[in-house]
Amino acid sequence: MDSIPQLRLAIVGGGIGGLTLAVALTRMGVDAKIQIDIYESAAKLTQVGAGITLWPRGWEILKALDLEEDLAAFLNPGQEIPSKDKLVLSLVFKKSDQPEDVHISDLSFPGGSVSFHRADVLTVLLAHISPRIQIHLGCRLTSFVESDADVELSFKNGETARCDMLVGADGINSVVRRGFLAKENNLSADDAVREAHPLWTGTTVYRSVMESSLVAQLDPKHPALLRPVSFCGKNKHVVAYPISAGRQINAVAFFSDPGKENTLFDGPSTVPKTTVNVSALYPNWSAETKCITDNMINPSRWAIEIVKPLERYGAGRIVLLGDSAHAMPPHLGNGAGQAFEDAYILAHLVAASPPVSGERIDIAHIIASYSAVRQPFGNFVVQASVEQGKNYEFEGAEFADVREGDTVAPERLAALEERISDLVRWTWDSSIADDLHHALELMGAPQVTQASTCGTRRE
Ligand SMILES: Cc1cc2nc3c(=O)[nH]c(=O)nc-3n(C[C@H](O)[C@H](O)[C@H](O)COP(=O)(O)OP(=O)(O)OC[C@H]3O[C@@H](n4cnc5c(N)ncnc54)[C@H](O)[C@@H]3O)c2cc1C
Ligand SMILES: *[C@@H]1O[C@H](CO)[C@@H](O)[C@H](O)[C@H]1NC(C)=O
Ligand SMILES: *[C@@H]1O[C@H](CO)[C@@H](O)[C@H](O)[C@H]1NC(C)=O
Ligand SMILES: *[C@@H]1O[C@H](CO)[C@@H](O)[C@H](O)[C@H]1NC(C)=O
Repeated sequence: MDSIPQLRLAIVGGGIGGLTLAVALTRMGVDAKIQIDIYESAAKLTQVGAGITLWPRGWEILKALDLEEDLAAFLNPGQEIPSKDKLVLSLVFKKSDQPEDVHISDLSFPGGSVSFHRADVLTVLLAHISPRIQIHLGCRLTSFVESDADVELSFKNGETARCDMLVGADGINSVVRRGFLAKENNLSADDAVREAHPLWTGTTVYRSVMESSLVAQLDPKHPALLRPVSFCGKNKHVVAYPISAGRQINAVAFFSDPGKENTLFDGPSTVPKTTVNVSALYPNWSAETKCITDNMINPSRWAIEIVKPLERYGAGRIVLLGDSAHAMPPHLGNGAGQAFEDAYILAHLVAASPPVSGERIDIAHIIASYSAVRQPFGNFVVQASVEQGKNYEFEGAEFADVREGDTVAPERLAALEERISDLVRWTWDSSIADDLHHALELMGAPQVTQASTCGTRRE
């Protein structure tokens, strides 16, 4: 059984990315061969969260990991398991900073997108993690030391642990990223904190989850009861979509100060509960917008930040995954999707890695192969998401003359529609299978089909 002797893999962070990695390693039978530990700062894993969206490219991974059926139970009314054979109306865009909504785009594509509550996705992931993988709660990583022999982890509770390979799945404010950048660039502790600090996009959001029935009472035909809608306007937009099998609507109200892009956000980047009247931020916006903003009671507030583009997603014994590598604005609904992609590719590389010199597997080679494939793509998605946000908020140079509430000519809106759909096309017309193939090639690993490597079902 011990074809890979004594590798100790530590995953710091039990969020979407860390848990997906654990599920993927379980599915590939790697948990039987190496020691896997998850260290999570929270005391329990059932955090509240908000909505996350998945596209055909991400859904492919859930399918390969055999999670499709479990997640299907949380689909919204009218949604089906995405199939690439079927064109689905998935996203509606309107110009709404005026009393009557103006059509921008109805985006349909093969497979469509599906939205879930983050907590439901975590629940499903947790149910598929091998009991051999230990989840240590209440363990907040504060620092680590990488040596030729291994990595020593230190936690806030005073505990320490050792591993051979450290996966930083610890989110946007990643401690692993900070330590990695310090070592890569020989930085002092202070400089490392500065270098690792996320950049603010200039956008702030209010988020809340509301009962669908409240919206239906006000407007039984409200489009957000059925699918994601983006109400767009100058320097602001509001997104709303159904989650939790249609019982709830996830609402996010964005407002931007384009001059502040790439500065550091002043103050706490999240405030769990505010008393702001969100509707007052969108005066004279359409009735459909108001229907959503009027129901955002005690919204949380978030600064939308990104990770400064990294040159590599890992080296030596340290590897970054998910938001810790590439936190992005939510405008392409892809933060979780990209975390799935990282986890899927990394798990395959670990699973395919042959032991070298009869002793240890070549961790640095796994990480270099992963980074070679994931860094260009992850960084691309961050930039595409930033750009898409500018499309939603009429911030491109071509709209310099447009003010909030202005009427914009139909041909200009048609050009905008074109740009929006160009930036999102990759989510359905490309496949993770090609990237996996490329990564395995770099490893020099024998090519395996996705089906056979994921065939180790337990049920
Ligand atoms: C407004 C908004 C809307 C979004 N909408 C979407 C969407 O529609 N679709 C989508 O795909 N994504 C969306 N996202 C992004 C998505 O939530 C993240 O990209 C995704 O959760 C990333 O997963 P992760 O595992 O990298 O990080 P997280 O899910 O943040 O998990 C990190 C984990 O690490 C733990 N942790 C942190 N620090 C430490 C430490 N020092 N030691 C130990 N544990 C630690 C945390 O407690 C957490 O459990 C949105 C985000 C925002 C802010
Ligand atoms: C790293 O930085 C320190 C102090 O800034 C310096 O003394 C040392 O020589 C540097 N090491 C390398 C390898 O550049
Ligand atoms: C919120 O603001 C809107 C628009 O300014 C106003 O009509 C509404 O009465 C306010 N709601 C509350 C609860 O103050
Ligand atoms: C809202 O519209 C009214 C009437 O068109 C206008 O007088 C008012 O200035 C507008 N308010 C804002 C904040 O744009």
